[in-house]
Amino acid sequence: MKVIATLAELQSSLKPLKTSGLKIALVPTMGALHQGHLSLIAEAQKLAEVVVCSIFVNPTQFTDPKDLEKYPRPLEHDIKMLNEAGCNFVFMPSVKEMYPGYPKPESWKIDLGEAEFVLEGEFRKGHYQGVTQIVYKLFDAVKPDVAMFGQKDFQQVLMIKNMVEALGLDVQIAVCPIIREADGLAMSSRNIHLSQADREHALALSKALFYIEANYKRLDLSQLLENAKAMINQMPGVELDYLTIANGDTLRPITEKTHQNTVALVAAKVGQTRLIDNVIIK
Ligand code: PAF
Repeated sequence: MKVIATLAELQSSLKPLKTSGLKIALVPTMGALHQGHLSLIAEAQKLAEVVVCSIFVNPTQFTDPKDLEKYPRPLEHDIKMLNEAGCNFVFMPSVKEMYPGYPKPESWKIDLGEAEFVLEGEFRKGHYQGVTQIVYKLFDAVKPDVAMFGQKDFQQVLMIKNMVEALGLDVQIAVCPIIREADGLAMSSRNIHLSQADREHALALSKALFYIEANYKRLDLSQLLENAKAMINQMPGVELDYLTIANGDTLRPITEKTHQNTVALVAAKVGQTRLIDNVIIK
């Protein structure tokens, strides 16, 4: 596995591979890798001959400077995991490499549709402009045939698909299922910050989602949400930001059970750590 830090080296390394007709998959990450990321690498290996994983804690998508500062960066461990997984390239640029004028903001404003401003977009203003800005830069640098994203960031996937469509980019977006701990907690780089008590309380999130999934046909929407919210709110140290049953295309709450793409999404602060999770209902 080759570890690369500059755009120039990345492009010169990938050029001969592209010219010889090999398919390239990109797995964009912010590091602190776990089994969820490894499942993206494994899926990428099925779809392409060359797998590039990027590790870059992207400052423009953080709305809270403290969150950016405390984001875990276990780089040596990440490199070891990627090497063992058979990844071909890891791209780990500096902030200056990706944003030469940093901290001066670069102009980037893309219409991602109304869904940009709800759920995560409401709690983290500008977050998806930052996400799409870096993902666009990574696409431009790697020119992947396919890029891999996890369903855990459901709204992020929708925003990236909207960007690809808005800019007419020639890249396939592959979405991989959420990988969970044995007790149901969705794997996340942020779980590292959970204390033992937080870790137990955090289970209320996945339990509430599984409750909605299991009782979706039986109960009406308001009853489902009321009961599931109660499961979360009764948990000490858990502060619910939202729990919704939404149209997966627009992220608007559904009012009837007729839509084909329905998803239950949750976000909550558990202790000092903000977690998100979701379950696709149908
Ligand atoms: O999902 C993430 O880890 C990040 O949002 C991404 C897609 C790597 C962009 O920084």
